[in-house]
Amino acid sequence: MTVNAGNLIYLVTIVTFILALRFLSNPATARRGNQIGAVGMLVAIVVTWIKTGGTSWWELALGMAIGGGFGAYAARKVKMTAMPQMVALFNGVGGGAAALIALGELHRLLPEPGKPSLDILVAIALSGLIGAISFAGSMIAFAKLQELIKGRPITYPGQKAANLALLGACVALGVVLAAGVQDQWLLWAVVAGGAVFGVLFVLPIGGADMPVVISLLNAFTGLAVAVGGFELENNVLIVSGMLVGASGTLLTMMMGRAMNRSIANVLFGAFGQVAEGAALAAGTDGGTVRSASAEDVAVMLAYAHKVVFVPGYGLAVAQAQHDVRQLADLLESKGVEVSYAIHPVAGRMPGHMNVLLAEANVPYPQLKEMDDANPEFSRTDVALVVGANDVVNPDARNNHGSPIYGMPILNVDDAQAVVVLKRSMNPGFAGIENPLFYNPKTVMLFGDAKQSIGKLIQDVKTL
Ligand code: TAP
Repeated sequence: MTVNAGNLIYLVTIVTFILALRFLSNPATARRGNQIGAVGMLVAIVVTWIKTGGTSWWELALGMAIGGGFGAYAARKVKMTAMPQMVALFNGVGGGAAALIALGELHRLLPEPGKPSLDILVAIALSGLIGAISFAGSMIAFAKLQELIKGRPITYPGQKAANLALLGACVALGVVLAAGVQDQWLLWAVVAGGAVFGVLFVLPIGGADMPVVISLLNAFTGLAVAVGGFELENNVLIVSGMLVGASGTLLTMMMGRAMNRSIANVLFGAFGQVAEGAALAAGTDGGTVRSASAEDVAVMLAYAHKVVFVPGYGLAVAQAQHDVRQLADLLESKGVEVSYAIHPVAGRMPGHMNVLLAEANVPYPQLKEMDDANPEFSRTDVALVVGANDVVNPDARNNHGSPIYGMPILNVDDAQAVVVLKRSMNPGFAGIENPLFYNPKTVMLFGDAKQSIGKLIQDVKTL
């Protein structure tokens, strides 16, 4: 294959990656986006193989069968609630691959006279360091989310200074390597130091902040891979790495904005610690919590004109998405107008609620994003909050002292009545009380969301 033909096909694969990202931004087209991206990647691998005329078909096929087989198996078997840790695992493997490529390239180039050149050496040191950070950090994120290690922030005195010193030492070793001391062991030291830094960098971050960290590490992996593209002089690797880097960075920033927290606060704030001392909310003193039975709530729902479901993390825990869909269908058959209000950071990963509800084939037009949903609450009879807490906490609007003050929320308290399905008065991710539960408009239906919705279905059927 000529260089030009190869580059032309690379260009086509790059277009498929951009299209994939475009399609992935909407639940209705996300599957197609994934497929387009996968086909583009397959073409890119085959073209690279032909261009380099490298290894035998068997080696390529074996590597792809092992990697592809594991990926397909894991993707099919993973539970929706375990999706963030699977993303962490896949992302970490990408970072690890970039670090290994750096080690391999240095090993290959060192014996050649006059090689590697300064620019390649800089690229090798950078991808070795960033790839190792991303690999080790992602593995810790995986272990925290899988509850193999404590999810709470692990902190100790002098932590930030020690981490900074370690990172500084790794960068210094990389500079020495690039400046001409071309020793394979120097790169091993950079990679090992980067891996230790990755571990220490993620340990102080609370388990529930992991999706933001994973997204940031994802951006790191993209960067490491793009730099790896310079080492290998491979354009498609440079562009696809930058696409991952840029989209990971944007996603991290969007998540931070939706939670009203700076990325520095996520990374260095040890946020999970707040949860231990559940901060008091404004407006809960002396307030009473009203608990209702499923029969009472069924009557409210069946005789409503408009009901808005507000799903949160508890929906994912209870795996109640199919039951919610069934209840919604039942209400619609009784002439009730039904929709779903989706907060951008409801749950524990971006698009968590969309994915769950898509699994239950909820019609996409019924899903309303926060900005469209909020004006509708004032003409809603019942807002049915299913396992959501922080994303409906009015303290984010009213209480300057609240850790979530300033986070945009779903204004369910504008509805005529609010029903909250949860198991107890325990706080959500932010570890703070919620004055919504003490609002005279609100009734609580305590219990596992799946069981509560099951009871509601039975009771609505009798009406
Ligand atoms: P949370 O505030 O975490 O509240 C979830 C509620 O679900 C809890 O209060 C819990 O109460 C209830 N629950 C748990 N299991 C349940 C079950 N089986 N049945 C019924 N209820 C159950 O969730 P949210 O409102 O979705 O807010 C998300 C939070 O996560 C925000 O603070 C957000 O900033 C943060 N966060 C989000 C992301 C992304 S990207 N989505 C990433 C990191 C952090 P009980 O224990 O009493 O049942």
